[in-house]
Amino acid sequence: MSPKLVSIVGGLAVVALVVAIAVLPRLGFLSWGEAPATHAGGESVTVTGEADIGGPFTLVNGAGETVTEESFPGQYLLVYFGYTFCPDVCPTSLQTLTDALERLDPAVVERIQPLFITVDPQRDRPADVAEYAGFFHPKLIGLTGTEAQVAAAAEAYKVYYAKVEQPDSAAPYLLDHSAITYLMAPDGSLAAFFRHGQPAEEMAARLREVVGGAGS
Ligand code: NI
Repeated sequence: MSPKLVSIVGGLAVVALVVAIAVLPRLGFLSWGEAPATHAGGESVTVTGEADIGGPFTLVNGAGETVTEESFPGQYLLVYFGYTFCPDVCPTSLQTLTDALERLDPAVVERIQPLFITVDPQRDRPADVAEYAGFFHPKLIGLTGTEAQVAAAAEAYKVYYAKVEQPDSAAPYLLDHSAITYLMAPDGSLAAFFRHGQPAEEMAARLREVVGGAGS
């Protein structure tokens, strides 16, 4: 592991453990002794232009229904890409998202639709992403799709992901992936983004400012 990753893992160990316990049924077979997958792009991101992030996507929710960027008219989308087998970063990111939403007035939360999009459609079927999302926040919707649908959505959001084979582990592979949370305005433009590890208070403040300040 890089020194950077060591410090991240160390700093997040306690919260990650607490969150991991909450999702233990899904992760039960993983060995806790192994090194966690890295999450490239989680700590440093270059946004070259707001218009570059986001765009059309076609995915499937827990009920097997098609969901697109037009499924939530008038809503701000809070979008995070990850996967349910993720041993560390995803649970932490999603817990932060939940903590941020819990700090907001209900009227602001009402205007936000949080989405968890898997980058592991091979393992994460509709029921899996729905159940996983339910561990975090009641409004969080889990989405999956075909490999091609997920790839297209990730490409639209400039999300990187790649399999990391785990030859000596019970889990055949982990996924390296970007760990940015995107806030998309109702018109589909990028309104804000949050790095992995950014405190829930900061996320809440920005959401309050952007969404709460946008009028009704
Ligand atoms: Ni992850």
